[in-house]
Amino acid sequence: MSRAPLSGNGKVTVPEILSRKSAAETRTENRITCLTVTDYPVARLLDEAGIDILLVGDSLGMVALGYENTLPVTLDEMLVYVRAARRGTRHALLVADMPYGSYHVSIEESVRNAIRLVKEGGAEAVKIEGGERRIELIARLVDAEIPVMGHVGLTPQSVNSLGGFRVQGRAPDSARQVERDARAVEAAGAFAVVLESVPRELAARITEKLSVPTIGIGAGPDCDGQVLVFHDFAGLTMEHAPRFARRYANLATEISRAASQYLGDVRAGRFPSDAESYHSSAEVRTELERQRT
Ligand code: KIV
Repeated sequence: MSRAPLSGNGKVTVPEILSRKSAAETRTENRITCLTVTDYPVARLLDEAGIDILLVGDSLGMVALGYENTLPVTLDEMLVYVRAARRGTRHALLVADMPYGSYHVSIEESVRNAIRLVKEGGAEAVKIEGGERRIELIARLVDAEIPVMGHVGLTPQSVNSLGGFRVQGRAPDSARQVERDARAVEAAGAFAVVLESVPRELAARITEKLSVPTIGIGAGPDCDGQVLVFHDFAGLTMEHAPRFARRYANLATEISRAASQYLGDVRAGRFPSDAESYHSSAEVRTELERQRT
């Protein structure tokens, strides 16, 4: 498949992402980069660095809001972050996760909630977790002009039914189920599929079989693209990070160092300096001087 041009202003679009589906020989050069994003400055920095897809993932519930898992995240909370990311994103494709509970009651309500992410948040696509069970919903969202990114393998919103955050698809039955899920999501109209925490051999096979791009997280190097959670990537995750979460920076150490330095400077009177202070007019200074004497 040849690569669709970026739109005139360099904007990454859904057709452009679709066109990045590559045969194994050209996969490396076409690889899709995706990072999760929460706030405006981070969105701007990642967008300006040329990341293809910025995903406002519901992992923000854990990494930004301190919840134990992603289940408590509400649609209204997501919307605050999606809007912030929207304001900082010009070129990347902005995708928003549908949080737990926002697409589990009825198709009508799910479509309405997805529309809010697009209309009020400015998302250009939504991501939903789950495979075969989501066929009808994905088709309805696509019908409502909302591009959908699928998410199969380890689906963190299923943490209670899965019994924890566990690698999926290791045993033959489970591997077959993950592949069925990926194929179902594609058949329903998803433009890309996130494969989370599955063995690399399985991810490679699914990537070969699908005609839409796979985006891996803990799924090995043979996917069409990769995604990392920003806080893992930047070294801001407080808890133990999974083995695939390569740290590209160590912002936690940097912030701790800066906080200690600030504390020392304030207590020692080194901050603020005269140059960091405002000054009264000459007239007021004279008056103040006069009052002092
Ligand atoms: O919520 C999230 O950050 C995600 C990524 C792990 C793909 O779904």
